[in-house]
Amino acid sequence: TKPLSVAVAGLGTVGAGVLTLLRDNAATISARAGRPIAVTAVSARDRTRDRGVSLAGLRWYDDPVALAHDPGVDVVVEAIGGTEGQAADLVRAALRAGKPVVTANKALLAVHGAELAELAESKGVALAYEAAVAGGIPAIKALREGLAANDITRVLGILNGTCNYILTQMRERGIEFAQALSEAQKLGYAEADPAFDVDGIDAAHKLAILAALAFGRPVDFDAVHVEGIRSISALDIKLAEELGYRIKLLGIARRTEAGIETRMHPCMVPVAHPIARVDGVFNAVVAEGDFVGRIVLEGRGAGAGPTASAICADLIDLARGRITPVWGVATRDLSHLPNLPMAKR
Ligand code: NDP
Ligand code: HSE
Repeated sequence: TKPLSVAVAGLGTVGAGVLTLLRDNAATISARAGRPIAVTAVSARDRTRDRGVSLAGLRWYDDPVALAHDPGVDVVVEAIGGTEGQAADLVRAALRAGKPVVTANKALLAVHGAELAELAESKGVALAYEAAVAGGIPAIKALREGLAANDITRVLGILNGTCNYILTQMRERGIEFAQALSEAQKLGYAEADPAFDVDGIDAAHKLAILAALAFGRPVDFDAVHVEGIRSISALDIKLAEELGYRIKLLGIARRTEAGIETRMHPCMVPVAHPIARVDGVFNAVVAEGDFVGRIVLEGRGAGAGPTASAICADLIDLARGRITPVWGVATRDLSHLPNLPMAKR
């Protein structure tokens, strides 16, 4: 059978992770996809950099947008990052050329998701983004497919591995914020600009995507109230612990009669609550549906392996010919409900 030919744009933590996973689990993936999945073309900035994985025999492009026009490429994986520039240009070019796109880029989806979804749907091609939310946790599939029969009332969770790593290390080892952040960067968890992590923006991007899915409405990042963890001190963490709480950066999207509330901020979580025990790079996604009740998903929220796992799941879907709608509606359409301004929450 003809392999699915994949182009990977960006060969950092995520892109190189995808190449490694496709190489190491080739037999399993081929069996489950019904045909081999082969990377044939790549793009990054520095041709000389060692990526920890062989690039022999792959077509190299300095300009990632050129991948969209390579006739030998069936699917484009975008692992560059950023809301504008080459990442955005590549995703638009690939969709316009009728090529499915798999992306880990939650910032791009949170800011331009509605427009990109419309473009993908007008072309009848997939825009898949399991890796964009909560790393290796299959949160998108769970909401879109697993809970498809439910009305969702609330989605919440720990959605940034870097922040959860920092808060955990500050508590467990008593180290400073800056040292914990530097460790998270070395482990490949942080964004290119770590302000996106520590100021809550990255997690808010993910919450905007989850809210769009849960409540069947266009993604709207501007509606999310955002606070990060910069102002949390070691003393705050210690005092919270003495009172029986853990400080976690939580994102909450909730449906009320008046509208949809979406907020991201540090919370005091009782130590006995399962969310309080989600530590290190782990994320958690909690969803509440009218028939299923509460479900809790937990797993690694960042890093090469978990993110590659999610991207490759999307590639397997594509290889099998499955095309899911971009914002598959997991509940009745609530697009008429307003987003609540902070004052009304
Ligand atoms: P990295 O910084 O490790 O990698 C980015 C890659 O993009 C590098 O290989 C870089 O090339 C390449 N690149 C940057 N600009 C260009 C350009 N103009 N043209 C071609 N290539 C370019 O980032 P990550 O792998 O960590 O993240 C990639 C994406 O995945 C982001 O959207 C991020 O938010 C998302 N993500 C990251 C996760 C993680 O755990 N790290 C988890 C989930 C999602 P070069 O190497 O030559 O500099
Ligand atoms: N910087 C992100 C995080 C990567 O730490 O969660 C995963 O999306």
